[in-house]
Amino acid sequence: MKVFATKVIPDNAKAFLSDNNIMVDEWTGGNPITKTELIDTLTSGKYIGLFVLGVKIDAEIIHAIQNNIQVISLLSVGYDNIDVHAATVAGIPVSNTPDVLNDATAETAFLLMQSVARKAFYNYKRIIEGKWRNDSFTTNLGTDLQGKTIGIFGLGKIGFVMAKLCKAAFNMEVIYHNRSRNEQADKILQARFVSFDELLHSSDVLSIHCTLTPETTRIFNAAAFKKMKKSSILINTARGKVVDESALIHALQETEIWGAGLDVTDPEPMQADNPLLQMANVAVLPHIGSATVDTRNRMAQLAAENMLLGLTGKRLKTVINEEIYSSQK
Ligand code: GLV
Repeated sequence: MKVFATKVIPDNAKAFLSDNNIMVDEWTGGNPITKTELIDTLTSGKYIGLFVLGVKIDAEIIHAIQNNIQVISLLSVGYDNIDVHAATVAGIPVSNTPDVLNDATAETAFLLMQSVARKAFYNYKRIIEGKWRNDSFTTNLGTDLQGKTIGIFGLGKIGFVMAKLCKAAFNMEVIYHNRSRNEQADKILQARFVSFDELLHSSDVLSIHCTLTPETTRIFNAAAFKKMKKSSILINTARGKVVDESALIHALQETEIWGAGLDVTDPEPMQADNPLLQMANVAVLPHIGSATVDTRNRMAQLAAENMLLGLTGKRLKTVINEEIYSSQK
């Protein structure tokens, strides 16, 4: 049995699959695989499963591959890059990799928060430009985090870890806005559920951890930034499209908010001439939330287990389109 991966995947997953007589071919091209190349590859008759990394799987691709591919296993927690409905209609189970990347992603949000608060990326850039630090005692200063308020937008598992880190490290007060209350956060972190408006008004640091849906798309827009504190920091490790990026640039230029830390941008990759990269109070990373060896290995192992389960006719461990099983009954 052979499956295809749209990028190279960690060895542990390949070893696990090979022990179960499943071989993996990987896309090793310098550029991401194109839609045509992907369809041609998957309709060649060689593959019965697909690992998805860093490509968009739309309805057209699903229709083209539905007679060949029996399982689609994503190596990501987010699944906004796949038309899940089309996969369900085509009868293909799809899985993601939740939970195993909670710590790494929250730690990236925490890293960005500190980096922005102390202008770390900017000051580093000054060193390599031969400028060392600004010698003034009163300019180019950062901001303290101790005792401030962290607002979490989307308090799921990743948001919970971020809130926990902020409370443990800086004794920050935790407020959050979510579809529903998170009782664990209320109890363990003394977190307070607030309206979206109050989250905007009261957060010193506002960290985004929601999924990308039509409701959350560009919810952080010009109107939202106007409601935030002038001293506030926005952190986004979720999806770039949750933030209206040109409104963010404007809000920073007009000091409607103080700073921003982004691991996700819109579009990705961010262009090298993006004004955000020149701002002292901004830190940008190239979507590396889950990019540690341990985390990527855990994601790959879970994705491989899902693939094996699917190819042997069993229910995937972390299936996204559950309804596929009820509709088969
Ligand atoms: C990364 O962004 C993921 O969704 O896993």
